[in-house]
Amino acid sequence: MSDSSAPLVRRARAAFGERFGGPPEVVVRAPGRVNLIGEHTDYNDGFVLPMAIDRAVVVALRPRADRCVRAVSLDFEEEATFDLDDLTRGGPGWAEYLKGSAWAYAEAGGLLAGWEGVVTGDVPRGAGLSSSAALELATLRAFAALDGDDWDPAAMARLGQRAENAWVGVNCGIMDQMISAAGEADHALLIDCRTLDTEAVPLPEGTVAVILDTGTRRGLVDSAYNERRAACEAAAEALGVAALRDATLDALEAARDRLGDVVYRRARHVVSENARVLEAAEAMRAGDAARLGALMDASHASLRDDFEVSSEALDTMAALARGAEGCHGARMTGAGFGGCAVALVEADAAPAFVRQVGQAYAEATGLTPALYVTPATDGAAVLDGVGPAVPHVS
Ligand code: GLA
Repeated sequence: MSDSSAPLVRRARAAFGERFGGPPEVVVRAPGRVNLIGEHTDYNDGFVLPMAIDRAVVVALRPRADRCVRAVSLDFEEEATFDLDDLTRGGPGWAEYLKGSAWAYAEAGGLLAGWEGVVTGDVPRGAGLSSSAALELATLRAFAALDGDDWDPAAMARLGQRAENAWVGVNCGIMDQMISAAGEADHALLIDCRTLDTEAVPLPEGTVAVILDTGTRRGLVDSAYNERRAACEAAAEALGVAALRDATLDALEAARDRLGDVVYRRARHVVSENARVLEAAEAMRAGDAARLGALMDASHASLRDDFEVSSEALDTMAALARGAEGCHGARMTGAGFGGCAVALVEADAAPAFVRQVGQAYAEATGLTPALYVTPATDGAAVLDGVGPAVPHVS
């Protein structure tokens, strides 16, 4: 476990004792993520290079003999109870992620056991750091633990995505769930979103990832996201490929007039971004921080100009970061329109970088940013041993 989740775990355990009496039998943690490069490529069957971060969702629980889940959210100060044999929508919004995950787990043939527990997290919501995926994967980790199931990260990531797509109703790709399920400490993960094959690659020696939260939150992101997806699908169809992952820049150029300017530029972002991700992984294998940073800068420009999902705040933050001492590169991260950027920074320079860029950004925008170095952490895990065998009531 990342040590930085220790306060969350303490808080969850203490609250469990107060609310339910006695200690929890199982504690699970699932992290948020920051994507180093490979944005809006996942739903094009492409490549991404995220890492799991030290912000996470923790659930402390114990099984129940009946088929009920009783969950208390410490962050929302709300309780939700639902019947695993009669899952219906409605009630607190955060609980939809729990219900959706339960529904997807059962749909795939998993055995659901009831539990009671407390849920808490420190992934900022709406910041592009995947607080929803963390909640889904923490829930799935809990059900899998009670089911005595081995953890299959790719299968569980697909269930988390299914919960989000079909239950919550957000048409996301697989990246966020996959990195929350499969993250590896001290490494970013090169993920092939078609096969879900992964390769762990370390950050270049002596560098750290810095999250730069612009203090803005995305608005209207769902409709813009769906529009981008539709443009990508239209481009793939026009090019006669299954997904833009299979398209080349040459084929795209040849079809430019046919595609029209907007669809052409959306596709150019995806095709060039996929190539950048593979090159970034190569740079990481070679420990080449300058190359990786340059690719991150180019990714930002492509997202800003071709894919048009950046924002003034994100552009300002990324530009200020790039101008600061010890920074190799910076870009927006996540879906866009607000939230966070990420920078690759020399570890020695990081404390001054965080201070100076934070101050310059606040002066330039009047907004309150939050900048922090994050280690890469493990994906979803059970922190304490599973308690006694759980009776399955069917
Ligand atoms: C959101 C989605 C992901 C991915 C990114 C953009 O985080 O949940 O699936 O599409 O946007 O890269």
